[in-house]
Amino acid sequence: MYPTVRPRRLRRTAPIRRLVRETRLHPADLVLPVFLKQSLTEPAPLTSMPGVLQHTRDSLRRAAAEAVAAGVGGLMVFGVPSVRDAVGSQATDPAGILNLAMADLRAEVGPDTVLMADLCLDEFTDHGHCGVLTADGAVDNDATLLRYREMAVALAEAGSDMVGTSGMMDGQVGAVRDALDTTGHTDTAVFAYGAKYASAFYGPFREAVDSALQGDRRTYQQDPANRREAAREVALDVAEGADLIMVKPAMAYLDVLSDVAAATTVPVAAYQVSGEYAMIEAAAANGWIDRNRAIAETLTGIRRAGAQIVLTYWAAEVAAELSAGR
Ligand code: PBG
Repeated sequence: MYPTVRPRRLRRTAPIRRLVRETRLHPADLVLPVFLKQSLTEPAPLTSMPGVLQHTRDSLRRAAAEAVAAGVGGLMVFGVPSVRDAVGSQATDPAGILNLAMADLRAEVGPDTVLMADLCLDEFTDHGHCGVLTADGAVDNDATLLRYREMAVALAEAGSDMVGTSGMMDGQVGAVRDALDTTGHTDTAVFAYGAKYASAFYGPFREAVDSALQGDRRTYQQDPANRREAAREVALDVAEGADLIMVKPAMAYLDVLSDVAAATTVPVAAYQVSGEYAMIEAAAANGWIDRNRAIAETLTGIRRAGAQIVLTYWAAEVAAELSAGR
């Protein structure tokens, strides 16, 4: 007559729900992506990412100190140079803005947090692509690898613990690993964007880095329709020496994330990208969803799907809340 098994018993009170909760958020699992723009004298708010700033060198140091105090696991730094050219020269100049920022941040936070830098040319090229171009305008894979090798060494020398290979060139992890190893940077880790899709959700990021891109990145980033291809990409990255693997974007790719977590033994991360942030902020600003619950639910979902580490623009805020025990 009556159910003898009642799952609702374990949902009856908040303490019972807390006890049986399978997935928890912790500040140390969260990584804060940050933007630094060379030409600024004051931090500049981003229209499409309310609450996120393009920083000056000074404001970036302060933001980093705050995030570290909140307990975040690390920072992922993106630089926006004042001068761009076809090969992204500023990316490999020790006095380029991203390299200066890594050195600044190392001085600010000391050895106590993990510093990561985006290892990609799109912020530095005048055409906005992630690599250098051939005469007919295609992205030249192998010529780009030579630039990535130099950029990896420059970032390691500037103090990065990890370099985030986000360009989706074939062989980039192996090339970067070799460049680091042959210059004595054997301790610098490669945080490989293993499965990175050509996504509409990077939209607001284009504002954040003043992207010069015309067109799209579909000849190098993955087709959103493909799941098995991610396994192939990730296997290659791991074979080439990736220390960590990232899936990006997060929310529309939880199946891929789950596959990657099951198939690899390296730490797995997901990047909750700019458009995912913007969607929730916009809906919340309109009163259409409960902002804080939506943030917690998406981060929990990304962790539940298999990401041990989550890159999110809410990292410092959420870490502060978690550290305060709220
Ligand atoms: C490439 C890079 C991009 C993002 C991170 N690294 C842009 C792209 O691939 O088009 C997007 C991050 C976001 O949207 O939050 N340097």
